[in-house]
Amino acid sequence: MASLKLKPSMKPGTRSYGAATLAVRVPTALPTYMRGSVREIVAVYVPEESRRQGLASELLTRTVAEAKRTLTVLMLTLEDQALEGFYARFGFQAIQRNPKILMVHP
Ligand SMILES: CC(C)(COP(=O)(O)OP(=O)(O)OC[C@H]1O[C@@H](n2cnc3c(N)ncnc32)[C@H](O)[C@@H]1OP(=O)(O)O)[C@@H](O)C(=O)NCCC(=O)NCCS
Repeated sequence: MASLKLKPSMKPGTRSYGAATLAVRVPTALPTYMRGSVREIVAVYVPEESRRQGLASELLTRTVAEAKRTLTVLMLTLEDQALEGFYARFGFQAIQRNPKILMVHP
C-alpha cells in the first residue's frame, strides 16, 4: 500500500549569507496543532557597514526557497512599516496590520 511521506519542515535555527543573518523559529504564538509546517523569521540583521549590497535579499531568497522545498509557510512580524515593501519583494503578504504587521509567505 502506498504510504504518504511528509517532508520535514524547516529546521529552526540561524541562517546566514555573508554578513546577513536571520533566525527561523517555531511560532509559539500559534496553537500547537498549527505549528508543524509554519516557521517564523526573526532577527533579520545586516551590520551597518554591509547594508545595501543585497545581502539580506539573497538570504531571504534562499530562505524562501528552503521553505518552498519543505512545504513550510513562513511568517514574520514587522515593527517598521517602511520594510513592508521590502518583504513583499520576496512574496510575503500582510495579513494583519494591528497591533503589528503580520506577513506570511504562503
Ligand atoms: C533591513 C536590513 C536587514 C536590510 O539589509 P540589506 O542587506 O541592507 O538589504 P538589501 O541590500 O538586500 O536590500 C536593501 C533594500 O532594503 C530596503 N530597506 C532597507 N532598509 C530599509 C528601511 N529602513 N526602510 C525602507 N526600506 C529599507 C530598501 O528597499 C533597500 O533597497 P535600496 O538600497 O535599493 O534602497 C538591514 O538594513 C538591517 O539589518 N536593518 C536593521 C535591523 C532591521 O530593521 N531588521 C529587520 C527587522 S524585520
